[in-house]
Amino acid sequence: MRYKSQSVAYWYFAVAMALFGLQLVFGLLSAAKYLGPDPLLNILPFDVTKMMHTNLLIVWVLTGFMGGTYWVVPEESRAELYSVKLAYVQLVLWTIMGVATIIGYFFRYGTGNKLLEQPLPSKLVIVLVMLMFLYNIGMTIRRAGRLTTTEGVLLGGLGLAAILYVPALLHYQNYTVAIFYRWWTIHLWVEGVWEMIQGGLMAYLLIRLSGADREVMEKWLYVIVGLVFIAGILGTAHHYYWIGVPGYWLPIGGMFSALEPLALVGMAIYAYSAIRRSGLSHPNVLALHWTVGSAVFTMFGAGLLGVAHTLPSVNKWTHGTLITAMHGHAAFYGAYVMIVLAMISYALPALCPGRSEKGTALGYWAFWLQLGGMFGMTLAFATAGIGQVYLERIMGLGYLDTQLKIQIHFVMLTATASLFTIGVGLFIYDFFRYPPQFAVSREAEPELPPLAVAASN
Ligand code: HEM
Ligand code: HEM
Ligand SMILES: [Fe+2]
Repeated sequence: MRYKSQSVAYWYFAVAMALFGLQLVFGLLSAAKYLGPDPLLNILPFDVTKMMHTNLLIVWVLTGFMGGTYWVVPEESRAELYSVKLAYVQLVLWTIMGVATIIGYFFRYGTGNKLLEQPLPSKLVIVLVMLMFLYNIGMTIRRAGRLTTTEGVLLGGLGLAAILYVPALLHYQNYTVAIFYRWWTIHLWVEGVWEMIQGGLMAYLLIRLSGADREVMEKWLYVIVGLVFIAGILGTAHHYYWIGVPGYWLPIGGMFSALEPLALVGMAIYAYSAIRRSGLSHPNVLALHWTVGSAVFTMFGAGLLGVAHTLPSVNKWTHGTLITAMHGHAAFYGAYVMIVLAMISYALPALCPGRSEKGTALGYWAFWLQLGGMFGMTLAFATAGIGQVYLERIMGLGYLDTQLKIQIHFVMLTATASLFTIGVGLFIYDFFRYPPQFAVSREAEPELPPLAVAASN
């Protein structure tokens, strides 16, 4: 750790880990409901457990992004954070909001707007927290007088993510209008500005893990971000096919969203070629697994499995089925879970000095079990989804009759999800195994030659 204030990242990561564990509890509960009698039907029905599952996902991934940013910005701008105290107040407020919102769902206190179910008081706290966060980071950079492209892309993504949450604050009577704007938040987050966050974190990690030249890496980062926006903005229309808006959205959605994988393939080539051409310049091979893994799994889950159901001619059959869940899991995991776990794996040896720099054996088990588990879960959702589309949408069987016929796939889902859960359990255990110790070390500082250190002493 080069700057003392980077230690705040540890507590953000710790909260993220705890909420990740809790997210899986509600995922497993949701899956169990597909399998048989549901003793919790009246206390915690499926819609509630699913809502808790997805909301915890969003909260913990954002916590990871914020922790990652608090780690990256001091290093990139070469300055301590503007206010450590503000960062802690922000974390406490955010965590209380997250937990209170989940407890509120238990009592059905939510808006019912998928993924944006947070009631208004929670939404207002989210806005406040984002403002505190952006102010703290903005002041840090202003005081330092140094902004790199990598952190610029990262912060651009975070700032735009906050702005795109604004439509979620408004309430629309008309259902079509409500759905139309809902995607400005959800789609433009995951297929737009969050990809800037992923790209920024990935560039930071690749520059440090490989010997790749910063200038070259940052130039290609612009190209990737450009591609994301060219396809992603009008690609929003792949959610407009069946919601009651004019028909011209069908070709627009099909055409532009079919181009979206370009940026994701670009990102995978970017990661692979950085390592291949420049080699490794850092001992942390585990962090490298997560970083390159994120690029490759995104190409699979978001790129391939996204495009698989994005054309109107396919989506008219698959819309809102388990095919969507298949893609949602693989895409979210590759792009956002894995990049957060990469940041954590990279920063952790510096935050907990007892750890090995190249990653622990448990850490590698966690990586492969999660990867295998998530791949299996994706296949389980895919096979269930294909069965569902044929039986329900094409053959016209009723929804519940269909569910009975595809139940066997949920046995596979539960088995592979259990493997995945063991992988996550190991990651969390490995995270908390070594106590944090926040000692500043400038040894690894490449930009400060010994003379400059001597002069400043
Ligand atoms: C990292 C990037 C991505 C993430 C995290 C992601 C995640 C998701 C999630 C969670 C949903 C379900 C949303 C809901 O119903 O509320 C969804 C839907 C969808 N995604 Fe993605 N996605 C990503 C990229 C892509 C890409 C690149 C494509 C196309 C090439 C795509 C195509 C679709 C389509 C067509 C739907 C609608 C499915 C339906 O009609 O039910 N996604 N995505
Ligand atoms: C123990 C592991 C997990 C299990 C058993 C599980 C199970 C489930 C189930 C049963 C659903 C409801 C699907 C439906 O609507 O029919 C669901 C939804 C969802 N899960 Fe998971 N999940 C797990 C982990 C994860 C992880 C790690 C992520 C993020 C990467 C994730 C992201 C999502 C998303 C985005 C949805 C909403 C999909 C949609 O309807 O559009 N889940 N999950
Ligand atoms: Fe989308």
